[in-house]
Amino acid sequence: MSKRFDTPAGPIDVLQGIQLEVARGETVAIIGESGSGKSTLLSLLAGLDAPTEGSIRVRGHDLGAMGESELARFRASELGIVFQQFHLMGGLTALENTSLPLELQRVEGAVEQARVALEHVGLSNRADHLPAKLSGGECQRVAIARALVVEPALLLADEPSGSLDARTGETVMALLFDLVKRRDTTLLLVTHSETLAASCDRRLQLVDGKLS
Ligand SMILES: Nc1ncnc2c1ncn2[C@@H]1O[C@H](COP(=O)(O)OP(=O)(O)O)[C@@H](O)[C@H]1O
Ligand SMILES: [Mg+2]
Repeated sequence: MSKRFDTPAGPIDVLQGIQLEVARGETVAIIGESGSGKSTLLSLLAGLDAPTEGSIRVRGHDLGAMGESELARFRASELGIVFQQFHLMGGLTALENTSLPLELQRVEGAVEQARVALEHVGLSNRADHLPAKLSGGECQRVAIARALVVEPALLLADEPSGSLDARTGETVMALLFDLVKRRDTTLLLVTHSETLAASCDRRLQLVDGKLS
């Protein structure tokens, strides 16, 4: 699979001949310098952008063969995404942020399931707080609860501890690993941390568009 961006300054071949197969429940770290294409790789895996060449299959779904609404449904039900900057909805409480993916799918008992997800990240006592009233680590725990509330097969995490201090980052990541291992969730983790990468089953490096 390859990805090229055409820019006014000419084409950039961000990903070249990527071959990657990840088993169910496997945790894979992706390491690479800034600008090496890590976020691009995740956005292709999420079906948010398409590869220039090649194809991507997630749980038997060929992403390139799916229409926009099918892709949206796939993302909502099979995929969790955690970003460095949390991306919580500022006007919604921790509980409302967590239940949102279920509400969008009109799942019955969405709020109750969200309460359980918040409990799993140790935030039951912050359910009614807005993100502005939460610490960075708490916001990321809400984002993790939101990502996992749909029980996704695949969790994509893009430098999830990148904006947290070292100790908070460690706590949050230990929690994340515990939750994905317990559910047999497949994890693709973009990180700068060799320590975090060592906690994964596999460590891959992105250099000059190639994964090795
Ligand atoms: N939509 C886009 N259009 C053009 N170039 C892009 C686009 N998205 C990313 N790039 C370029 O692709 C390269 C990889 O970006 P990115 O995947 O964000 O890297 P990383 O996450 O590893 O820091 C960078 O050179 C970036 O400028
Ligand atoms: Mg990035």
